[in-house]
Amino acid sequence: MTRLHLAPLFLILLLVVVPPTGAFLVPTTTKTTTALYFFGGLKDAFKNDESLGKAKDPGLSGGPQYNEQVTVNGKAVPGAVAGQKLTVVANKVRVRIPVNCQKGDCGTCMVLLNGRKVKACQTPLPASKATIQTL
Ligand code: FES
Repeated sequence: MTRLHLAPLFLILLLVVVPPTGAFLVPTTTKTTTALYFFGGLKDAFKNDESLGKAKDPGLSGGPQYNEQVTVNGKAVPGAVAGQKLTVVANKVRVRIPVNCQKGDCGTCMVLLNGRKVKACQTPLPASKATIQTL
């Protein structure tokens, strides 16, 4: 037998022995979803918990408390917020307070706040009148 005679026999043998695979099947449409089935067990984890009540607005409650009675080296500071560090308040009017550790350890940032020596990197701006004087 020659090779030409073996070709049809090989083809018949191939069709009988090899099971049909997806390559020979007509593709069917499948329904897709956007759900992440990998995290399917967690899909309710981020829902609002009804037992916590109505959600509140994020951020500061009642908004920022502005203090308009602030001066740094005699310059009035518009828009100073009570609780901000004195270094931040001074930056608003371009008065630079030198800092080093910013942890309250070194004393590089010492300023006078209403006549008292304080560390500007650690001291929050009070809600009342504040006079800051650099040294
Ligand atoms: S930067 Fe060191 S105490 Fe403020």
